[in-house]
Amino acid sequence: MIEILDEEILLSTKKTSMVLSYRNQKKLGTYYYGRKIISKEEIPSLIRKYSYIEGTEINLEENKPYTEDLLKLDLSVMNHSDFNSPSLILGNEKSSVFDFVFKEAKIISPSIIEGLPTPHDAKEELLVTLEDSLMKVKADLHYVLYPEVDVIGRYLVIHNENELPLSIRKAMSYQLPLVNHDDRIFSTYGHWADEFNADTHPVIHGRTLIESLTGSSSARHNPFFMILEKDCNNISGNVYGFNLVYSGNHEYSIEMDTFDNIRISQGIQSTGFEKVIETNESFSTPMGIMSFSYEGTNGLALNMQQFVNAHIIKPQWKNTDRPIIYNNWEATGPNFSKGKLVSLMKKAKSIGIELFVLDDGWFSSRNDDSHGLGDWNVNGKKLPGGLKSLSDECQKLGMKFGIWVEPEMVNDDTKLYKEHPDWIIKDNIHIPLKGRHQYVLDLSKKEVQDYIIKAMHSILDNADISYVKWDYNRNISDIPNGFSSFYHDYILGLYKVISKLTDDYPDVLFENCASGGNRFDLGMLSYFPQSWMSDDTDSYQRETIQRNALYGYPLSVMSNHVAAKTSNQLLRKTSLDIKFDVAQYGILGYELDLNDLFKNDLETIEDQIRFYKENRKVLQWGRYSLVSEPSEKEDLVLEASLDDKAIITQFHSLQRPNPKEGHLKALYLEEDSLYTYKTRPQLIPLKKFGNLVNYIAPIHVKEDYILSVALAKHVKMKSEVDEGIASGSALLSSGPVLTQEWSGVGYDEHIRLVSDFGTRCYLIRKKI
Ligand code: GLA
Repeated sequence: MIEILDEEILLSTKKTSMVLSYRNQKKLGTYYYGRKIISKEEIPSLIRKYSYIEGTEINLEENKPYTEDLLKLDLSVMNHSDFNSPSLILGNEKSSVFDFVFKEAKIISPSIIEGLPTPHDAKEELLVTLEDSLMKVKADLHYVLYPEVDVIGRYLVIHNENELPLSIRKAMSYQLPLVNHDDRIFSTYGHWADEFNADTHPVIHGRTLIESLTGSSSARHNPFFMILEKDCNNISGNVYGFNLVYSGNHEYSIEMDTFDNIRISQGIQSTGFEKVIETNESFSTPMGIMSFSYEGTNGLALNMQQFVNAHIIKPQWKNTDRPIIYNNWEATGPNFSKGKLVSLMKKAKSIGIELFVLDDGWFSSRNDDSHGLGDWNVNGKKLPGGLKSLSDECQKLGMKFGIWVEPEMVNDDTKLYKEHPDWIIKDNIHIPLKGRHQYVLDLSKKEVQDYIIKAMHSILDNADISYVKWDYNRNISDIPNGFSSFYHDYILGLYKVISKLTDDYPDVLFENCASGGNRFDLGMLSYFPQSWMSDDTDSYQRETIQRNALYGYPLSVMSNHVAAKTSNQLLRKTSLDIKFDVAQYGILGYELDLNDLFKNDLETIEDQIRFYKENRKVLQWGRYSLVSEPSEKEDLVLEASLDDKAIITQFHSLQRPNPKEGHLKALYLEEDSLYTYKTRPQLIPLKKFGNLVNYIAPIHVKEDYILSVALAKHVKMKSEVDEGIASGSALLSSGPVLTQEWSGVGYDEHIRLVSDFGTRCYLIRKKI
């Protein structure tokens, strides 16, 4: 709800309130953001009154105790009375001094941001206009409410009414003042195959700036971050979460002054940015996202996850079952024959897969990553009958068919490059640099956008394709135009293309990918409802990626695959069951050579798929939470919960000698209900026992000898099963005791053998 009062505005969501005020010298600021307040009478006591200003500060008005430096501004500029980092940098030929003051506030119906993804189904919107009447520039601050998920969106529109062109050098989507409570920043960092590492570090006096300059939102620093108050943990305490509905270069800044006032801002990356707008032109920023929870980081995660599911992903994909995928990439790479693909398809179908995805290598002269990108004609030698004959084959088998594309790129051996060398991004002075042997097409150009749209139409119209994996595999370099809005224009071009394609093919499921998670953000998710999280399919590494992403993103957008036992990225070996326990949280897929698997392994996968199908709703649409952090003594424990079910997985790092008593603990269950719990059994690889296998084997078996491989092939050994009944209260407390863990002494069917990087998954259901 939005209430415009006398010089104050109250924004209310289900559990939070935000109080804006322009009482102090008509400067707009946020004076309160936190738990919901209960009465308007409280508002005056939330707003600081100033009696004098200190030291070297500049008075906004002579003999009045106001300086922008200390006010809790929602928009700040430089060259006036504010000496913190500005959220807006502007200037024209005559001046770069601005004095924005309140002009009007009104409630409007939810708006659409021109050319940029706008979260849908907003409930209400507040528009506050600030103005510098002497410079003839207006700043519209939009506050967009998603009350049921406790999210407030903010964006800014600058209008130039001056006869001189206006140069915009920085325009943050929002600026939010907060009060410091020994706050910590949760931010992410990463790289290819190593996305979503997290840092938690104190807010310092001065400024912490986190940014991406790669051309995309990037795995270096995802635009999602949190500010945690001192005592905040996963289940309790105050926490603020932020994000940006944008896919290009971005930045966020957390600045604390000597008085411990904190200013947070986020928006399009500003280094080297310049957008010049002419008289009567406007410039809109993307929308920034703010949320608050007093229920710890899981509370914040719930807000963010529900926000994405309800307002970011396209409504037609909401609550729909996403298919289980088989992708051939880690099985074949770009070298395959039609026969190989068809045999994989048949195997995939026989174990329960629903969608077969043909990855890179199906077009032009593409047999490795230095050829063919940009020429989107099928390689008829590899695939006689084209994509159509493969999609027909899938249809016959009762599976859907999908393909990989990377339309924003070009290799230089292609017809496309030879005909249009000027379509790539380059400055026309230097030799443009390649990444992964490819150039980036300049999507700010209309003719490039049209080419991509046409090429995609011709692919999608000529076969029965229900899924597209849209990849983007290098950073941008060599931009033209000096200081400019080039990076932003690229993203606007990209949004044009993908908005048209997703409108033209509403039933095609697009999956976002950028060498894994290098452009995993709310902008891309506004068009493509799911995203390949990482090229790293090692289960242990992937746990980190998924569990740090859960604070900002829901299960429904996280695409994860079970790959071969030995990880292609780390050469770490974990069983298929361990890999499944990680990959099941989100959209499940398989990415390994099914023809290389023993019967035991195929049966294991069939069991996994059966389990996933039975629990698909909770694994794709449930609440995704952290039950406990990993430590030297504790496992990482994650939970997906929905209605009457929860799926809890405990992730070991290294096996400990003398393991302590194990318990099953859950978080989001009803205290007063009774539940049943049961282990999802795993296949225990016999080889795990090494020489110890001789204690039970009728003949002597040498470790690593062919006989032990043969044993693994034929002997199927299942893990222990823990099952029982427990109340929500017990599960929320220490939880039921699990069977004894392997301690190097004896083994029977009740011993819980988890070992290094192992997992155990439990299904909890309300008892009826
Ligand atoms: C990227 C993707 C992979 C795969 C390859 C194909 O690295 O992230 O999943 O599609 O490209 O070239």
